Amino acid sequence: MTVRIGICGAAGRMGKIIIEACRETRGVKVTAAIEHKDSPALGQDAGEVAGTGRLGVPIVDDIAGVSGTFDVLIDFTAASSLPDNVKKCRKAGKNMVIGTTGLAPEQKKIINAAARDVAIVFAPNMSIGVNLCFKLLELAAGVIGAESDIEIIEAHHREKKDAPSGTSLRMGEVIAQTLGRDLRKCAIYGRRGVTGARDRKTIGFETIRAGDIVGEHTVMFATGGERVEISHKASSRKTFATGAIRAAQWIAGRRKGLYDMQDVLGLK
Ligand SMILES: NC(=O)c1ccc[n+]([C@@H]2O[C@H](COP(=O)([O-])OP(=O)(O)OC[C@H]3O[C@@H](n4cnc5c(N)ncnc54)[C@H](OP(=O)(O)O)[C@@H]3O)[C@@H](O)[C@H]2O)c1
Repeated sequence: MTVRIGICGAAGRMGKIIIEACRETRGVKVTAAIEHKDSPALGQDAGEVAGTGRLGVPIVDDIAGVSGTFDVLIDFTAASSLPDNVKKCRKAGKNMVIGTTGLAPEQKKIINAAARDVAIVFAPNMSIGVNLCFKLLELAAGVIGAESDIEIIEAHHREKKDAPSGTSLRMGEVIAQTLGRDLRKCAIYGRRGVTGARDRKTIGFETIRAGDIVGEHTVMFATGGERVEISHKASSRKTFATGAIRAAQWIAGRRKGLYDMQDVLGLK
């Protein structure tokens, strides 16, 4: 069965790579491409915008108008646009793969509510390697987390709009949950001035934004005599696109519910 894919944010960095990756993947076909109403890409062919040759799919500005043409919508847009996109898919009964990050709690609630009617994979990082790291972090936190100083350092390209990255926050959540802590209370975002000695129960976040770094995350568990580091480095955005397409194939045909990449990869 061929899964028909709609891409929201089709002219964005990720949208274009997903179009390219879909063309290289058997069993999927891009049948709809959406951008916002002021996008200069409107009316253009999605394949040509992605630099992969003509696809025969024009970029439009309305999910509702093309909802009959796709099975799953992959959304890599912006936190401010996402709630509206989710509501439209819910109304049209369309399953979603959401890669958009930087969501506020109210925006996440809209995803939770929609998952009562449609099936959604929501993951701040679709890379298979990162999702393996989430599992490794759970293991490390369980073995040495309680007696370690835990720091999460992430680096991304200069255009990234949100900080710290959704992936680093998810890493923090995995560790906090394993240790029975509340990340909202124990997270420290950057340090400056006279900070005093470190509280062992905190989880530190450091952010780097520079050049064209695709995405790097390191979690450090440091004790008195040794240090364990779990690192992931993405060298191409294609890794996220491949994961998103795998998620779309997995979610197609499911009825409802909220899932993440751990579900898609069978890591739960
Ligand atoms: N989960 C993952 O694995 C993963 C991996 C990489 C990136 N991301 C996240 O995915 C999102 C997109 O990243 P990106 O690097 O592709 O950013 P980007 O290049 O800015 O692409 C986003 C695209 O969506 C468009 N857009 C904004 N609002 C829209 C709407 N309402 N309907 C349709 N299109 C809309 C933007 O248009 P304008 O530029 O004209 O505003 C832009 O073309 C970010 O939140 C990023 O952090 C997640």
